[in-house]
Amino acid sequence: SISAFIFDLDGVIVDTAKYHYLAWRKLANELGFEFTKEQNEQFKGVSRKRCLEILLDIGGITATQNQFDRWMIEKNEDYLEYIEKMDESEILPDVPKVLDFLKERNIPIALGSASKNARPILEKVHLLSYFDAIVDGNDVTKAKPDPEVFLIAARKLKTAPEKCLVFEDAVAGIQAANNANMLSVGIGHPDILSEAKYNFKDFSEMSIEFLTDLIAD
Ligand code: G6P
Ligand code: MG
Repeated sequence: SISAFIFDLDGVIVDTAKYHYLAWRKLANELGFEFTKEQNEQFKGVSRKRCLEILLDIGGITATQNQFDRWMIEKNEDYLEYIEKMDESEILPDVPKVLDFLKERNIPIALGSASKNARPILEKVHLLSYFDAIVDGNDVTKAKPDPEVFLIAARKLKTAPEKCLVFEDAVAGIQAANNANMLSVGIGHPDILSEAKYNFKDFSEMSIEFLTDLIAD
């Protein structure tokens, strides 16, 4: 049975993908090329550094180390301006309902995110207090699909990996959960997340019985 839950942040708890997209697009446009929503799909769950590498590839741009570092900072500054304005209204459907359900049963909850901005975002939307452990981009050396982020989270929750469930919206994140030997649950489009053990469009599609069964089993 499942005795701990790990949530990805971007795309699972809040829809920050649109802000990441706007900030990357601004940089692309400044550098003289287009960056589409479709191309943004491959940025989900991927570290800031890796995203910039892919973006420069798309634009056919070779950067000096100095430029690379500057663009990383510039993108993040633009992104921070967007998240500065975030509030509870940006929490995705039924996320508080699921968190409340788990909290009422004293089930440990962790965050497992590639973002270095995870804490400020959770503070902005007033969900920080739900989490018993936070593992984010500041704690990991290997990016998803490497299982590192989720294995650290399991250790912090003092729970064996096979007893953990992971909610993820990114292909790399589902793969990371599978690689960690955890139960992967995709939140988002089933075609994108075909490697997930279970799949829901969003939390409003997932019944509370689904959770009670997993916990009781
Ligand atoms: C999440 C998002 C990615 C983002 C990454 C790093 O995984 O899905 O799109 O690139 O976090 O975010 P950061 O806030 O550190 O730039
Ligand atoms: Mg995500």
